[in-house]
Amino acid sequence: MKKKLTRRSSLKLLTAGTLAGFAGRESLPAQTPGAKPTLDTWARTHDRVFLGGEYWANPMEDWRVSEGGAECLNTGAGRSVHSLTHQIDKNRAFTMAVTLTRLEKLATDGGAGFRIGLRSEINEHRSNCFVLNGLNAGWQGGKLLLGPKTTDLPDGATLPKIRLSLTGAPQGDQCVLTLTATHVETGAELATLAHSVAAEQILGNVSLANNFAPGGSGAAKGKKGKAGANAGGGRYRFQNWTLAGDAFTVNGEQRFGPILWSMYSLSDSRSKEGFVMKLSALTGPLGAEDNHDIELHIQKDGAWKQLGSAKLDTDAWTATFRLPNWDEKHATPYKLVYREACKDGSTFPHEWTGIIKANPAGRPLRMAALTCQNDYAFPYAPVAENLLKLDPDLVFFSGDQLYESHGGFGIIRDDAERAILNYLRKFYQHGWAFREVMRNAPTLCLPDDHDVFQGNIWGEGGKPMDVGDTGASSKGGYIQPARMVNVVHKTNCAHHPDAYDTKPVLQDISVYYGDMVYGGVGFAILADRQWKSGPEHVDTGSGRADHVMDAEFDTSKLDKPGLILLGERQEQFLKAWANDWRGHKLKAVLSQTVFANVATHHGNFDGYLKADLDSGGWPQTPRNRTIELMRPSMALHINGDQHLTTLVQYGVDKQRDSNWSFCTPAIAAGYPRWWRPDDLKMPHTNRPKHGLPDTGEYIEGLGNKAYVYAVGNPQVGQAPNRYDKAHEKASGFGFITFDTEKLTYHIESFRFLIDATDGKASNQFPGWPVTLHQKENRGENLLD
Ligand SMILES: [Fe+2]
Repeated sequence: MKKKLTRRSSLKLLTAGTLAGFAGRESLPAQTPGAKPTLDTWARTHDRVFLGGEYWANPMEDWRVSEGGAECLNTGAGRSVHSLTHQIDKNRAFTMAVTLTRLEKLATDGGAGFRIGLRSEINEHRSNCFVLNGLNAGWQGGKLLLGPKTTDLPDGATLPKIRLSLTGAPQGDQCVLTLTATHVETGAELATLAHSVAAEQILGNVSLANNFAPGGSGAAKGKKGKAGANAGGGRYRFQNWTLAGDAFTVNGEQRFGPILWSMYSLSDSRSKEGFVMKLSALTGPLGAEDNHDIELHIQKDGAWKQLGSAKLDTDAWTATFRLPNWDEKHATPYKLVYREACKDGSTFPHEWTGIIKANPAGRPLRMAALTCQNDYAFPYAPVAENLLKLDPDLVFFSGDQLYESHGGFGIIRDDAERAILNYLRKFYQHGWAFREVMRNAPTLCLPDDHDVFQGNIWGEGGKPMDVGDTGASSKGGYIQPARMVNVVHKTNCAHHPDAYDTKPVLQDISVYYGDMVYGGVGFAILADRQWKSGPEHVDTGSGRADHVMDAEFDTSKLDKPGLILLGERQEQFLKAWANDWRGHKLKAVLSQTVFANVATHHGNFDGYLKADLDSGGWPQTPRNRTIELMRPSMALHINGDQHLTTLVQYGVDKQRDSNWSFCTPAIAAGYPRWWRPDDLKMPHTNRPKHGLPDTGEYIEGLGNKAYVYAVGNPQVGQAPNRYDKAHEKASGFGFITFDTEKLTYHIESFRFLIDATDGKASNQFPGWPVTLHQKENRGENLLD
């Protein structure tokens, strides 16, 4: 029987002294090497999905803490639990042990035990969690196995449970590994096996493995979403995992959770509420018996003060605070506390700290703008480190915080609860990569198509997608359960300033468009695909609903009456916002993508495409109407999605009569696009003074007017190193400095593998940086 601990009794166990000071990290100390073995925490952990901050589970949705151990729920190949705190980084002694209980065996037992020597080409603990190499050491049916060797384990096929230990002992440049199985009750040795390997072979992460067969890579996009399931395996519970020895580097700061990260916004409501600060804390999925409260403390005049607590949403695992009349004049240290109350009555406070920045006043606002993180380059350290160096006042992610392939093991479509967990662990990679900048700067985060597991999204006001046989990319509506879509919205946007009008769309899917006023700048936050019409309303003549392939095709035929881009509600909002100048002098529109078709080639270098209906250049009539609504705002449009950075001035009635668009580089570009009108001999006029290729005034493939001032075309990415490859593929990030005195935007487009602070001209794509005056966004042009 579990001893049930109420929140009240668990709080009684605490004293004020358990709250550590402003440490900047979780309060639990790191283990010291050579000390007693580190033991897992599962014996005291309530049953739940989240295994604890010391671990990364592959994939999270297939694991639970259950009966005091980590239990694999899936008999599929390649399931594992990595230690985040312990990596083998030298040829010294180590010992790991774990108790295995075989819970289920199907046609063949895939085995279970340890997998070590898990390292990516950059051998970094987060990236190491997703590799498929490594050396196996464990129990499979009637055998013990260690690398290529096996030995008989008497009664191994019928034993329900064993204790397995693996030791490493250095011998020259080799490491001698010894695997031993013992009886759980008697401690009697059942079998042992030794194997010598080159010491470097076992450097990297260590993990528990369930079903040794390789698996888990790639995205299974099947409708039923039995991602990676394997009828032939077995599944196990793992208990009392101990790790010890000088071979390990131990770093408690590498824990990820239970508070995974936080995101906040700060906005001048221009009402009696003054500045409103909103903050979401994200935790891993906890259990029904766990504490579900997150506390927020702030530091004022040197002392910590608790402002309140918020309940975790048990779908999204976010706890959101909304604090009106925030003192925006001072930077305020904050601390989130999660008091983990365990089965045995023990309580552990976990902390997450950061700074709520002061509202930038009397100086320019500096904003980082990012998009599209494809996890072949996870954890994107060059970008993450540049962000820390630049210390932006505001961080903007315009979408594709994940792709369906993130972390392997496919996607889950139909079962809402499993789809949510499947989504969450993919989204967690976003926080894992960028949480250090988000802890100290306001962050805006827009979901886009891949965030809801769609190659494209034409939301059509939230309608459920009728999938049919032609896949999800060209159908209108949402393919995922609405409950998961709302989790996507909560995890990305719950901390945003309040939405303009919260009325949900079809299927009760939430909306998030609205504004933020910060640092003397007004931002309109749009969902430029939530209402957009799908391409099946028109005929592209290409056999693919969203792509026009024929250079001679008359794309004006695609501009059918009644098609939607932003939709009525957002158009009304945009109109009101464009004419509302209370509390700010400069404006920017933030949305997913550019309102022009600024790509001539897709997918591969020769993949000519006349037009892509997924760009914001279609449908043309509402595209023009949107720009006309934006024009009086003189806003810069900041967006992403394209994996191709561009700086473009929109034209409606004539070239260069409207707003500028900055489409930022992808954090890590996957699917490549190019804008190479020169190669196609596409006509242009008025090439800019800088004379760069592929620039000037164009009628793009959809017939829209677009003055392309700068473009950052990619190479074909081939480098084996993830960061070199991302650099080749023209990845990077954008940076915008809003000068509210001079009324200018200074726009920078940085490459991936650079130091953004060393001032080298080659850090940026050709044509950047550019400074625009506000009035250039209504066609009073200065730049030539
Ligand atoms: Fe993308």
